[in-house]
Amino acid sequence: MRRKGTEEKIVYVGMSADLIHHGHINIITTAKKLGKVVVGLLTDEAIASYKRVPLLTFDQRKQVIENLDGVYKVIPQKTLDYVENLRSIKPDFVVHGDDWKTGIQKETRERVIEVLKEWGGELIEPEYTVGISSSELINHSGGRGITSSQRIGQLRRMFELKPLVKILEVHNGLTGLIVENTKIVEDGKSVEFDGMWESSLTDSASKGKPDTAAVDITSRLQTIEQILEVTSKPIIVDGDSGGLSEHFVFTVKSLERLGVSAVVIEDKIGAKRNSLFGKDADQTQDSIENFSEKINTGKKAQVTGDFMIIARIESLILGKGIEDALKRAKAYIAAGADGILIHSKKETPSEIFEFCRKYKKFKYRVLLIVVPSTFSSVREKEFIKEGIGMVIYANQLIRSAYPAMKNVAELILKNGRAKEADKLCLSIEETIKLIPS
Ligand code: SPV
Ligand code: MG
Repeated sequence: MRRKGTEEKIVYVGMSADLIHHGHINIITTAKKLGKVVVGLLTDEAIASYKRVPLLTFDQRKQVIENLDGVYKVIPQKTLDYVENLRSIKPDFVVHGDDWKTGIQKETRERVIEVLKEWGGELIEPEYTVGISSSELINHSGGRGITSSQRIGQLRRMFELKPLVKILEVHNGLTGLIVENTKIVEDGKSVEFDGMWESSLTDSASKGKPDTAAVDITSRLQTIEQILEVTSKPIIVDGDSGGLSEHFVFTVKSLERLGVSAVVIEDKIGAKRNSLFGKDADQTQDSIENFSEKINTGKKAQVTGDFMIIARIESLILGKGIEDALKRAKAYIAAGADGILIHSKKETPSEIFEFCRKYKKFKYRVLLIVVPSTFSSVREKEFIKEGIGMVIYANQLIRSAYPAMKNVAELILKNGRAKEADKLCLSIEETIKLIPS
């Protein structure tokens, strides 16, 4: 039955409200003239499902909205879709800015119109307040900079909110900007990378050096600084073996101070060799006791509760088998590891997935991570099914840049001019505007 009289009418407004601005106030002002305003506040999970994790948590955002003049009640909206909340409260009106008539929210709008018909509700669409959006304010604040403590904590929140955290390799400021800004729209959702992997392989290669720790920690820290300077997303650093425990303590403190969210250390000792050489290179695994002690020493050295130490198990790389990997995982978790990276250089994921299935039975589990460089045909949804929480694409930016650059260099040599290479290059105009001043 329809409610009678203006006071009793219920008006539903859905919003994320990560950064409140006058556009939100305009919507609430319109809504409160129509009746009691119930705000359906998108949960952190709902926001993370279609754009970046919100800056403020649900409870923080709720506190702000509840205290706005004209808001009667705030309820969680758990999905982008309004239908569940609308059917449960049957509002007389839904108020939303008219910007959603086009773009990624178009279908959501159509479903609102359909469901309102069930009880004769009405959609009211005041003109969108131009020139302002929370997303733009947030992007702008990213450009202005982010503090190290704001950045560090982002990674842990992502694990809580997203089924799979997607990380891409970076090795300088420019690749950092690619991870920061690359977005596509798919099924009405904006898809982007969640953070960056500062790889020892690609940092070294970009400096023309092998992945043998010839690029030392001081140089790595400088590169990390450059990347942090121009980005706001979380960064995970490839810490090789972490070195001696007494040195690892300083690495942890330096990374944390800079705003790095996590360091990954691999359970190897001796001369540093890239894992993807497998048994072709002389690589020695550390003892469980020694590596556990290193993890534990690192955990005691960190200052915040946010920083993460991730233990990378090399048993499959070195042909030691799944049982050895599982035994190590248990020990490293007991030593305080915040995540387990199970590495493999097989072209199929069978051994990784066998590990995952056995890992699922552990009583104490932490975040599970994979680096699908060789088993690159596996899709992300399969990783999610196996209980993997983070995927690191560890080297694709440098592997794609190198052949492109080499090709252009050869074309110039071949033709004795650069004209033929022009079509493979950004225009001069695009190049000078690539990085806004
Ligand atoms: C790196 O990116 O440097 C890594 C991953 O350590 S791998 O190259 O697969 O060993
Ligand atoms: Mg490495």
